[in-house]
Amino acid sequence: MVTIEYSKAHVNLADQVYEPAEDSYLLADTALEFVKDGMDVLEIGTGSGFVSAVIKANRKVKLLATEISPLAAICARSNGIDVIRTDMFAGLKGKEQFDIIIFNPPYLPTSDDEKIPGWLNYAFDGGIDGRKDVVPFLQKAGNYLKSDGIILLLISSLTGVDEVVMEIEKARFRPEIVSSTKCSFERLVVIKGANID
Ligand SMILES: C[S@@+](CC[C@H](N)C(=O)[O-])C[C@H]1O[C@@H](n2cnc3c(N)ncnc32)[C@H](O)[C@@H]1O
Repeated sequence: MVTIEYSKAHVNLADQVYEPAEDSYLLADTALEFVKDGMDVLEIGTGSGFVSAVIKANRKVKLLATEISPLAAICARSNGIDVIRTDMFAGLKGKEQFDIIIFNPPYLPTSDDEKIPGWLNYAFDGGIDGRKDVVPFLQKAGNYLKSDGIILLLISSLTGVDEVVMEIEKARFRPEIVSSTKCSFERLVVIKGANID
């Protein structure tokens, strides 16, 4: 079994589960700037559980994650993450409210002939414009946030930063780019959305 070590976390990887990459590292580092001890944290699409494991290794928080892929859910559980296998927020009871909701979504624009077989497609396939999962996430996240809560959303320049910022505003969050890094053919960006209401 392959295990990686990062920022005090030890994370087991598995076949057909997204292997943490520059996007995961940027989101984990950024999350540590915002997550404080005692917070309630939700990660959507936890994959191997990498980002959640880094948070848990460095902060005393209550952390819950969701994941659509059964293979990734099993992997994340092996890394000590409390995971509900579900589509985005669907398996939550509906009453939970979090201080921070984190998502590194499938963000790459993907045509039908670029899809890959198996569960791993869910890690990459952002639909034709890269925003297939970003928009529903933004529409639903507010229902699960405390009034002073924030979202941290990772996207790529290929997803369309201006378009995502507009969607964030439409969903009644105040957007702010809080970190970014250049990564070969794209720029990775973490956008914070603070509840306006
Ligand atoms: C880019 S990967 C990120 C994985 C991990 N969070 C990381 O940063 O290394 C996106 C993850 O979201 C999951 N995912 C995609 N659509 C989802 C959905 N509708 N609900 C829950 N998880 C989803 C994928 O299976 C994949 O594990």
